[in-house]
Amino acid sequence: MNSKGFLLVILLFTLNSCKENTDPQQKVQPAEQAIDTREYLKKGQQIAMQTQQVLGTTLKQKIAEGGPENAIAFCNLRALPITDSLAKVHHARIRRVTNKTRNGVNRANSEALSIMKRYKDQLEKGETLEGVVYVKNDHIQTYYPIMTAHLCMQCHGIPVTDIKAGTMSSILERYPADRAKGYTPGELRGLWSIQFEKQP
Ligand code: HEC
Repeated sequence: MNSKGFLLVILLFTLNSCKENTDPQQKVQPAEQAIDTREYLKKGQQIAMQTQQVLGTTLKQKIAEGGPENAIAFCNLRALPITDSLAKVHHARIRRVTNKTRNGVNRANSEALSIMKRYKDQLEKGETLEGVVYVKNDHIQTYYPIMTAHLCMQCHGIPVTDIKAGTMSSILERYPADRAKGYTPGELRGLWSIQFEKQP
């Protein structure tokens, strides 16, 4: 190609790219679609893991101090200062939801229930459970599994066998409509629901 031809190619290329930029179909993607969902999924998981860890440590400590009855007020995110500070730092709303609630405010909505169902199917097949992220109109919603462990049994296990009579009656005093018992270790107990404010 001679130099004239080469210039022509450049010119055509430039004209073409100008045309593309003015084409409404080719406009820069709106911020809505530029949201990095993987980033939110990772951030939500960190928040869930950090809160879970503090929750576990607090429960163990309170049980060691005065048995499960002494710890009943501490399986509650509002009893943990870390929930507030993480929520503020990340502009997030941190909750736990489930199908079988002890406290009715933690009732799962239909979206969370269908994720729980999918997780249970996956557990049966021996698959690993992954977090879920949705971009909503005004927020980003993430979910992660909450599994039962041995520690949970003294308050969420089988009454009498795992949950002592005294513990059960203290639980029922506070939560007369309690359904959060009868679990065995390694079961899906519920979901972390971490919602992020959409940044303007
Ligand atoms: C000392 C008793 C105790 C132990 C141990 C305990 N919990 Fe709880 N759990 C409770 C109480 C009481 C509530 C209700 C808290 C509230 O008012 O939100 C609760 C609520 C929950 C909820 C919120 C949903 C609902 O049913 O209201 C989840 C999820 C949960 N527990 C999971 C666990 C897991 C997982 C473990 C083990 C790591 C565990 N709990 C250990 C007493 C306990």
